[in-house]
Amino acid sequence: MADHAPHASNATRAGTDLSDALDIGRLLFAAECRFVHAAQRLDDLPSATGPEVAFAGRSNVGKSSLLNALTGRRSLARVSGAPGRTRQLNFFDLSGRLTLVDMPGYGYAHAGKAVKRDWQELMFDYLRGRPTLRRVLLLLDARIEVKAVDTAVMELLDRAAVTFQLVLTKADAVKPEALALKLDEAAAFARSHPAAYPDIVVTSSETGAGIAELRTAIAELAE
Ligand code: GTP
Ligand code: MG
Repeated sequence: MADHAPHASNATRAGTDLSDALDIGRLLFAAECRFVHAAQRLDDLPSATGPEVAFAGRSNVGKSSLLNALTGRRSLARVSGAPGRTRQLNFFDLSGRLTLVDMPGYGYAHAGKAVKRDWQELMFDYLRGRPTLRRVLLLLDARIEVKAVDTAVMELLDRAAVTFQLVLTKADAVKPEALALKLDEAAAFARSHPAAYPDIVVTSSETGAGIAELRTAIAELAE
């Protein structure tokens, strides 16, 4: 019996730490979140002050939806069934402690060439050169295979030494076995990229799965 006592108390402590951490995430995201700026060009970015977390990923992966799910606001960021909805870098202030940046998607085949070049250059320039960018959440759709353009972005972030965290989206839309394989695949990508954060978060903006966990991961970066 005496043998078990330390384990029990450790487990209780670990449980308390976890619930404290989840509380920190919940409290940060319960605070006011407001849209502050939409940048169409690099010389139009808001001044770099506090820490920033950017949401990046292919068109339609669910960046804007995830931002809405995290903040518990239905229409803070604009969501669309048609890819290419978000065309600027949208900056949101989370109670003065953190800036969230909703980015245009990359890899959108049907955008005009010039438009595509403009969005993508803006996005890549921002990712490479923003001194206050603390982490990029790089979203991967759990239903779709990882594409060359995704790995190209991972390599760009490696070169720029910008930490990125892989986030699987739309977990509600795949069966558990397929999701487990997707998670293994993402973990392998994380291991092979020096700038990748090791923990992957599996999310659904529809069911709320993984949202509390992701809030906590983001809250660790807030001021
Ligand atoms: P762009 O701004 O065009 O790059 O797209 P985005 O990455 O911001 O995606 P957005 O949030 O606009 O969502 C694209 C589509 O995916 C919409 O039809 C959403 O309703 C759908 N979607 C987003 N998240 C989820 C999810 O967790 N589960 C399911 N089933 N659908 C989702
Ligand atoms: Mg969007």
